[in-house]
Amino acid sequence: MSDHPHGPVVGTGSGTQPEPELVVVADPEAASQAAAERVADALTQAVKARGRADWATTGGSTPVGIYRHLGAVPLRDTVPWNDIHTWWGDDRFVPRDHPLSNVKPLDDVLLDVGGHEEGTSGLGTGLHIPLSNLHPFRPGEAIGASRDAAACAADLAAELHATGLLTADGWPVFDLVLVGIGPDGHVLSVFPGSGAFDSTDWALAIPAPTHNEPHVERVTLNPAVLGVARQILVVASGASKAPILGDIFGPQRDVRRWPAQLARNPNATWILDEAAAANLRP
Ligand code: 6PG
Repeated sequence: MSDHPHGPVVGTGSGTQPEPELVVVADPEAASQAAAERVADALTQAVKARGRADWATTGGSTPVGIYRHLGAVPLRDTVPWNDIHTWWGDDRFVPRDHPLSNVKPLDDVLLDVGGHEEGTSGLGTGLHIPLSNLHPFRPGEAIGASRDAAACAADLAAELHATGLLTADGWPVFDLVLVGIGPDGHVLSVFPGSGAFDSTDWALAIPAPTHNEPHVERVTLNPAVLGVARQILVVASGASKAPILGDIFGPQRDVRRWPAQLARNPNATWILDEAAAANLRP
């Protein structure tokens, strides 16, 4: 990938199988902004088309910058949040206010949970999202009721089934799934060799990974949802992701070895900064 000092380079990979759209931008901030614009557009278009949007956001550090742009002018005022339902691709099995929670970044950055009129929440920017439109895994409630991660995942799956989303091949169809990529090629909380590939459950518990931080038990959507999502947005920044991205976009296809290859398909857009894209062939 040659240098692109100014703005995104958009292209698709070459090869025998259809590839995702690849957008390379200068740095993490540019990746966050480009991703926020894509999220805003995808959700707005989904609401226009079907009156409602259901998307799954990601965990880790990647979404923080994206939420900042979504909660700020101009995007803040363009997204019909009252008609958008936010799910989580995965979470750690910790309470919502725990520093490792994947919900906390959205609460802290995009919302200012509490202190607002009943039933809605919003930052000082005036962004209001009905709390009933947020559908996180609920580890805190499970822990409080002495229930395990499997029960927590089953609760979310039941909520998803009850929502009545369109299904394809037996899996719920999200309008958008936003994911980051782990340094081992994991996506959601589906690590290389994961038993999740052999599960028919819409959501499942994942034992605490030993090779990935944090070493905390997880709950995750089934990776199969990536195969039926209307759109996938993958965001990765930084030199630490360059080696694994070189493997993911390499000649070998093996989703059990590189789960992120589940997003190496034409319904996906990959937004990478130049450091993360360094190992990708032109
Ligand atoms: C999690 C995430 C995980 C994350 C990647 C990338 O619970 O940690 O869902 O899949 O997206 O590990 O993490 P960063 O965004 O921190 O690079």
